[in-house]
Amino acid sequence: MNLPASALRDDDRRPPADELLETVQRGLRARPKRLPSWLFYDERGSELFERICEQPEYYLTRCEIALLREHAPAIGAALGPDVRLVEYGSGHAHKTRLLLEHLERPVAWVPVEISAEPLRLSVRRMAECFPHLPMQPLGADFTRPLRLPVPPRAPRRTVLYFPGSTIGNFDHAEAAALLRKMRAEMGEAGGLLIGVDLKKDNAILEAAYNDRAGVTAEFTLNMLARLNRELGCDFDLAAFRHRARYNAMAGRIETHIVSTREQRVRVGRQRAAFGAGEAMLVEYSCKYSVEDFAALATRAGLRVERSWFDPQRMFGVHYLVRA
Ligand code: AVI
Repeated sequence: MNLPASALRDDDRRPPADELLETVQRGLRARPKRLPSWLFYDERGSELFERICEQPEYYLTRCEIALLREHAPAIGAALGPDVRLVEYGSGHAHKTRLLLEHLERPVAWVPVEISAEPLRLSVRRMAECFPHLPMQPLGADFTRPLRLPVPPRAPRRTVLYFPGSTIGNFDHAEAAALLRKMRAEMGEAGGLLIGVDLKKDNAILEAAYNDRAGVTAEFTLNMLARLNRELGCDFDLAAFRHRARYNAMAGRIETHIVSTREQRVRVGRQRAAFGAGEAMLVEYSCKYSVEDFAALATRAGLRVERSWFDPQRMFGVHYLVRA
């Protein structure tokens, strides 16, 4: 059974439309101001993120792909035959393809993604490479409990695949809660294959989030452009700038949008006041040593069974099972 790309399931748990305005107003009332990083990913933001992945300074994607090129056969062997692969985020076909090529008789691929169009696109791309692989796309927010579709045949295990170090965009408490939710979804015999960026030299980390071509800065400020487009706000993009710095104590890149002058911005019926130099937090990108990540897994009732690294040891992929 191979579902057509149009056969999307939607588990009706998407945030209601007015939640966007409420989220933004709440974030701008907070002290210090803070907006959630999922606001980056409208259509333009997703395009810009793909361009970030091609920037010479943004090593994460290249290193994860190099890791998979080298270790996908061993990863496939560790996961074993008859796996149902549930991917959190519909994924860029490239990484998933490298993995699927080394899985023995996969039962189904279940990409989970909140936006319908990227989900359709990734299914279409994947179907070209794996015409016989059953695909069960699920339109849903992966941070909320999922109702997984009934698999076409009984899998030996469900493996959740969460590449790209997206786990780093959650703070430690949120990350532990997400891993606990995944533990429940994978079932007794299941596993979690997760890509995690490693701690490293400050200069390398800061360069990755401040590329010379300015794509990351554009990606960051697109959040304000999105709010102008979708909520009729009047952010003057020329009066804000992107700032990404590594906080070594906390082990994370902290991205802020900084107001370059005193100003007031319309957000729905309210007005938000910004001081000159005021910084609004928009993203964490947490970095984990192997030990840090093992400790996080323990908090979620999981243990790291195996880890693989790229040849330069910049990035890790860990296979977690129930503790
Ligand atoms: C999606 N996520 C893992 C990226 C990261 O590295 O935190 C998002 C990103 N933000 C700026 N550059 C890339």
